[in-house]
Amino acid sequence: MSTETYKNELDLACDKFRAILESQLKRVENMKAQGGFIDYSALDTLIIGVCGGDGIGPTITKESRRVLEFMLKDEVAKGKVVFRDIDGLTIENRIAKGKAIPDDVLAELKACHVILKGPTTTPQKGSGMPNIESANVAMRKELDLFANIRPVKVPEEGINWTIFRENTEGGYAVGSSGFNVTEDLACDFTITTKQGSDRIARLAYDYARKNGLDRVSLVTKANVIKTTDGNFLEDCHAVAKEYPEITTDEWYADIMTAKLVDKKRRASFKVILCPNLYGDIISDEAAEFQGGVGTAGCANIGKRYAMFEAIHGSAPRMVNEGRAIYADPCSMLRAAVMLLSHIGHQDKADRLERALDICAFEEKRLTITGRDTGATCEQFGNYVMDTLTSLS
Ligand code: IPM
Ligand code: MG
Repeated sequence: MSTETYKNELDLACDKFRAILESQLKRVENMKAQGGFIDYSALDTLIIGVCGGDGIGPTITKESRRVLEFMLKDEVAKGKVVFRDIDGLTIENRIAKGKAIPDDVLAELKACHVILKGPTTTPQKGSGMPNIESANVAMRKELDLFANIRPVKVPEEGINWTIFRENTEGGYAVGSSGFNVTEDLACDFTITTKQGSDRIARLAYDYARKNGLDRVSLVTKANVIKTTDGNFLEDCHAVAKEYPEITTDEWYADIMTAKLVDKKRRASFKVILCPNLYGDIISDEAAEFQGGVGTAGCANIGKRYAMFEAIHGSAPRMVNEGRAIYADPCSMLRAAVMLLSHIGHQDKADRLERALDICAFEEKRLTITGRDTGATCEQFGNYVMDTLTSLS
């Protein structure tokens, strides 16, 4: 092959690569300039934006909002908390505007403090839909929600894991900017920055310290993805030095997926800290032990904004088969627990968590099966609110 053969293709690829690196360097500078976390207690009014999303999203988000409004009714009456509907994060509108998050929707999101968001449909290459970026991924990046925190609990097995997934980097940072260099050669990119690894590690170790958890497990594939995963490990270890009471251990992502099914070992994991993609995969696997992804919620935390959502997708099949009303709202209710905790209502968060544990694991007066053999989403919401009332 002469160097001239692919000259144009290589020049074009280098230009694209340069643009990616420039935008990532700008992001690094922004991270360096960033201050501390917003103090919600200093706000006169806290605004909670609510986006229903697609598929079963509006159904399960409505239930979570209803429970949140029930728990925050005094704060709402006093004007301390406001719920604000944000429309337009639907797949139809995103396709019409040709953007993962249309500009007007983004402006509305940025006018809130925290967001309760239902699952959104992500177009996949070859699906016939335009290649727009996932709304989740775009929101995490636009609002700089760098930590995705995913708790999983199976009380009878002693499982109580909190997964800290880095949320703005790795394979997701420029996941829609990969390209075909020639018709034979394709390239995607994975990104790690010192600032990005440091801030997620700090949050995970702080969480472990505050909750008296003495172990953090790092998950990478640093044996193969040597530079980016290698740096992530190094940066996490540097943070770990400031937490001498906490033991840090390292796992490769493949063996971690195996150990999570090992009943003798798995209960000993506590905090699991990982780059974006491994966190995505491991958190679905972890949620399966608790009853499936439908039962798991998560917090996406940044310094200025935070967003709370289910860990699963929009389940369009359930809607097509007319089963949306039977969707399990537990993921969005668990997300509501994390929202309450994040805005400083730990007592309310604890009560809702207790009510959910009673409804989903202990008393189980209603079960959700995803079809007409089980309760509806709304009936389950009522059950949770009845349980909350009986707790107080
Ligand atoms: C999640 C989801 C998203 C992700 C998808 C919908 C883009 O799987 O929140 O885990 O990969 O992060
Ligand atoms: Mg996922």
